[in-house]
Amino acid sequence: MDIKKIVVIGAGAMGNGIAQTAAVSGYQVTMTDVIEEALERGTATIAKSVAKLAEKGRITEEQKTAALGIETSLDLKPVSKADLVIEAAPEIPKLKMELFTELDKLAPEGVILATNTSSISLTKIAAATQRPDKVIGMHFFNPVPLMKLLEVVRGLATSDETTAVAFEIGKRMGKEPVEAMDSPGFISNRILCPMINEAVFVLMEGIGSPEAIDTVMKLGMNHPMGPLALADMIGLDVVLFVMEVLQRDLGDDKYRPAPLLRKMVDAGYLGRKTKKGFYDYGA
Ligand code: CAA
Repeated sequence: MDIKKIVVIGAGAMGNGIAQTAAVSGYQVTMTDVIEEALERGTATIAKSVAKLAEKGRITEEQKTAALGIETSLDLKPVSKADLVIEAAPEIPKLKMELFTELDKLAPEGVILATNTSSISLTKIAAATQRPDKVIGMHFFNPVPLMKLLEVVRGLATSDETTAVAFEIGKRMGKEPVEAMDSPGFISNRILCPMINEAVFVLMEGIGSPEAIDTVMKLGMNHPMGPLALADMIGLDVVLFVMEVLQRDLGDDKYRPAPLLRKMVDAGYLGRKTKKGFYDYGA
């Protein structure tokens, strides 16, 4: 399949990272968002990231220029010319369903519609379209330009051909694709979020300070970041949402969200993006 043009829906942390990585890998990329400031912030983040990567010699000047040339759009019109769509909109199930119905109408026949969802059922998203065999999860990891993994998630109807194309694109983007079946949290968040949730229980029960908990996991288990610092990076609202999905859809209370996690989300302490989470990031 000859894929040249990729449209990325959403200019947030994941969307701009995916757009950057695709552009650096030689694809023509358009990044869309409904909020103008989000597009501006996303474009600025890409500029900063490629400047750093070029300075370190991890990408060439040509690759940097390609990323700086990413087009932006406030509407979905570019989807009608796309060879592949990768959606990275907020994790709101109703929004994703409506978006996929719309993308299905706009995208040329045969074009694969991928989603970066971290926890919404692929099978449900695919059912909002007339091309469920062409809907697939391409789940990237934050920060996208640095993280090697691509979790390729198959919905019930996703075809082998679609899966093979997602693998091919992932590899061209410098990622190591891994296949997962559609199941709550897939492989990554089925394991990661319960670990973070347990760290929040440990904090809530007064067993250790945030620094102590993170140091144990960093120095004792060689994790690059402690679970609480990582929760701040992912967003506490995202972690809570994943835990709610796991508890509800797997029907097991071992996945119950830590009350402190819910309390922090209620308070608006969502981590780095609100400058306050388990740690402070300045006002
Ligand atoms: N672009 C370019 N450079 C970047 C960057 C980006 N987007 N993000 C960070 N960097 C740079 C830093 O600026 C830093 O540069 P300098 O050395 O010049 O200062 C360099 O990368 C290394 O960063 P640090 O020294 O601060 O720290 P590090 O060596 O620990 O690496 C990290 C940073 C890669 C984020 C590492 O801490 C790490 O791997 N953390 C875990 C990340 C993780 O688990 N991500 C998955 C989250 S889960 C998810 O995304 C999916 C989900 O569904 C929830």
